[in-house]
Amino acid sequence: MRTLDDLDVKGRRVLVRADLNVPLDGERITDDGRIRASVPTIQALAGRGAKVVVCAHLGRPKGKVNPEYSLRPVAARLGELLGQDVAFATDVVGDSARQTVEALQEGQVALLENLRYEPGEESKDDAARGAFAEKLAALADLYVGDGFGAVHRKHASVYDVPELLPHAAGGLVVAEVEVLRRLTEDTERPYVVVLGGAKVSDKLGVIANLLTKVDRLLIGGGMAYTFLKAQGHEVGRSLLQEDQLDQVRGFLAEAGKRGVDLVLPVDVLAAVTFAADAEHEVVEATAIPADREGLDIGPRTRELFASKLADAKTVFWNGPMGVFEFDAFSGGTRAVAEALIGSDAFTVVGGGDSAAAVRRLGLPEDGFSHISTGGGASLEYLEGKTLPGLAALED
Ligand code: 3PG
Ligand code: MG
Repeated sequence: MRTLDDLDVKGRRVLVRADLNVPLDGERITDDGRIRASVPTIQALAGRGAKVVVCAHLGRPKGKVNPEYSLRPVAARLGELLGQDVAFATDVVGDSARQTVEALQEGQVALLENLRYEPGEESKDDAARGAFAEKLAALADLYVGDGFGAVHRKHASVYDVPELLPHAAGGLVVAEVEVLRRLTEDTERPYVVVLGGAKVSDKLGVIANLLTKVDRLLIGGGMAYTFLKAQGHEVGRSLLQEDQLDQVRGFLAEAGKRGVDLVLPVDVLAAVTFAADAEHEVVEATAIPADREGLDIGPRTRELFASKLADAKTVFWNGPMGVFEFDAFSGGTRAVAEALIGSDAFTVVGGGDSAAAVRRLGLPEDGFSHISTGGGASLEYLEGKTLPGLAALED
């Protein structure tokens, strides 16, 4: 992969595909991690005299203009972090974009409006995507792919534009790929993966692949209940994906055959309802009352998971252990995070939710070896898939 050092950018228009998909509460950015992660590449380009044109998506407006998904608040935050104004184009490839780019001087930065306002961006039709890619490419002389969180998407700005312009990978993409490589090649053992989050169906591919690689697989969060049910236990009103039970039974059998230590919760916080102040108690994971739902892993599970992490040399963690947005059910996620912080392993946190959880719980980000900006992207990488946005930068 070519990197920024291979590009002569002075005085040239450089289109940077970033991932600025941050959570918003109205117009307030609730977690700016992805914006901060995008700053070094933009700063390096501006510092070398490029005219920097940043493009990105926010949410899923599905090809239509929708002010709820405007990148305008992101432009303001990016400007604060860069310490310089960021010009904002109110469209993606229209008059405003052309004029904004035209007005850029060397070292200045612009941000285009949400790429996903344009149906061509995500189109499955190569020609429609290609036509939109041509318009984007016309705004620049060079392309830098730095939106790691979106490299698993075969979208115009990720996949097609680099075919049209001389291109390189940005610093964030290079750093993320280096870390993921350490999780897939010559990984130091014991290699322990902790998975959580609501849906096991989002993680099928990665679990299947990890079972051939890891020494231990710890499962918490909403997806754990489908595993407990697959073992024949009552899970009450906990999250359950009935249609995944066969698949999960297969994973349990496969783990047994391969000697992978697949660790499930032994106790859970069982609540009467899904609410921040829900009445709850600690129960055995094998005997959740029929009228209750598990919202976090229990204290014995926290200890068990910590003991399984204690001697690890490599750890990857994706997905919260419980409903961490509710203080009463954030203890499991906190315990796993603290176990990682306290370990001398190479520790990687993957995914928007787990990264946001770390920051929300007030835990030190530098307590981890790496916090990835990519959820789906890092999972698909670990699944062994070819990621379109990386393939496009490869040649
Ligand atoms: C993400 O938040 O996972 C990335 O920004 C990609 O967004 P998407 O899942 O909507 O494609
Ligand atoms: Mg996603």
